[in-house]
Amino acid sequence: MDLSQKVIYQIYPRSFQDSNGDGIGDLRGIIQRLDYLQKLGIDMIWLSPFYPSPQNDNGYDVSNYTAIDPQFGTMSDFEELVIQAKKHEIEIMLDMVFNHTSTEHEWFQKALAGDKEYQDFYYIRPLKEDGSLPTNWQSKFGGPAWEKFGETDLYYLHLYDKTQADLNWHNPKVRKSLQEVVKFWMNKGVKGFRFDVLNVIGKAPILVDSQQVDINQEKALYTDTPIVGQWIEELNQTTFGQDASFVTVGEMSSTTIDAGISYTNPTENKLSMIFSFHHLKVDYEKGEKWSNSAFDFIQFKKIIDDWQVGMFQGHGWNALFLNNHDQPRANSRFGDTDNYPFETATMLAQMIHFLRGTPYIYQGEEIGMTNPNFSNIEQYQDVETKNYYRILKDKGLGEEEIMSIIQAKSRDNSRTPMQWSDQIGAGFTKGEPWLAIANNFQNINAKKELNQEGIFHYYQQLIRLRKENPIIQKGSYRGLYLDDPHFMVYVRKLESENQPNQELLVICHFGEQERLFTMPKAYQNRKAKSLLGNGPLHKRYNGTTSLEFGPYETVAYLFKE
Ligand code: GLC
Ligand code: CA
Repeated sequence: MDLSQKVIYQIYPRSFQDSNGDGIGDLRGIIQRLDYLQKLGIDMIWLSPFYPSPQNDNGYDVSNYTAIDPQFGTMSDFEELVIQAKKHEIEIMLDMVFNHTSTEHEWFQKALAGDKEYQDFYYIRPLKEDGSLPTNWQSKFGGPAWEKFGETDLYYLHLYDKTQADLNWHNPKVRKSLQEVVKFWMNKGVKGFRFDVLNVIGKAPILVDSQQVDINQEKALYTDTPIVGQWIEELNQTTFGQDASFVTVGEMSSTTIDAGISYTNPTENKLSMIFSFHHLKVDYEKGEKWSNSAFDFIQFKKIIDDWQVGMFQGHGWNALFLNNHDQPRANSRFGDTDNYPFETATMLAQMIHFLRGTPYIYQGEEIGMTNPNFSNIEQYQDVETKNYYRILKDKGLGEEEIMSIIQAKSRDNSRTPMQWSDQIGAGFTKGEPWLAIANNFQNINAKKELNQEGIFHYYQQLIRLRKENPIIQKGSYRGLYLDDPHFMVYVRKLESENQPNQELLVICHFGEQERLFTMPKAYQNRKAKSLLGNGPLHKRYNGTTSLEFGPYETVAYLFKE
């Protein structure tokens, strides 16, 4: 199957399905839910890390790349999962966290014990002459990016948590070791990889201060440097590049469209696609995530439009998504889940699924799960959230304001357990869940969704329509009404030799009032068929100049002549 037909589903194993009552999701739990995933219609599951780890960053701090953490199961559970998934026509994508290892990884432990060979696996540096840290860089989770290297006078670099030490990719032994990890999992039947924060692996051998202590300025010093592309190509050529059906996606922090093209244009031999995040920073105040501000809809549209146009022109390929394990729930963020839960969830889904690229669904999105709005900091578990709670306290913000920021921005928003049913434990666990379940599980759960024509059913149709319609897979993209404050509108167009030109006009209403939409001139009074919609317009269209949209209504019209 061509990449453009696939839809990928992300599982956060900790929170998906617990099979043994310890409150933590596990591999056997995933096996139990394969029927559900097949019913949804997805082609591949991306599993967030389940490798041995001290779990300071929920497994993104890996202490052994080629084993299974006992809390998630065993290697034979994993092998069973690959086999069972295949029977369900589902392939497996694994998360490779190669920018850093846990400080408990054997390599770091050997380095600590004085082994020079392994010290060269990391960025270990002396203090500056004036006694200050090797550089003034900040960790992305708050605080300085350097931590004391054992009992020595040296310091090691960590762009993330202090237990996540950055790997020195300049060392060929590091690159070789990581290639071996990739091959190990390929031999187990894995068919895809998601590479964690891949574009920050190319730090310079000599690290320098950023001009100001400003995280955005600093990023330029270690993001998308030219050597990154070279190393990705090497990884591709020595491992997965041999298999044309392999699917790879690089998580790219603060990247650019040009870089995105250079990573994903097929002639580059690097990756199938990338995740970029600019469209999910439109509710950051002056670039600061830990703030409370309404989202800028025009900017949101403009960023998506730029990426769609730019990547199309450069023959690049986008991963399409609004949710993942690091993001608050998109429906809580961009819509109204209290009054229009169905409309919000389906409108956002349609907006994403009809774009050019490969759509990702994050667990629970397909049943309309929301942010949990925990009121007490003790209910949050995430390391970044806990750090920023302290940082905001130190800045002098009051408890109430801090909690409202955390309710909106915490990564735990998407990490609460999957809501399978209205039973105690939400069908996720028979024990005490590792993170509290959102208290709306009696109303929002998979069991209920499967018994109605709701959000789940809508996702099934979106996935099916992608497979049936080349225009969704391969059509060009053009954005319309970019300055309109209420509607997001775009056209996909497929020019084919033996068929008349087809156009798919996708209209998404972001708002809770009824609102009149004027058809673009070129489409007025023409015959069209509605491919899919979440409200009355789906059935009512008969060639007109203006349409009345309900709250969060969306519709997509196919014009054939
Ligand atoms: C990525 C992961 C995130 C993790 C970070 C460091 O952004 O998605 O969960 O904390 O990398 O590994
Ligand atoms: Ca378990």
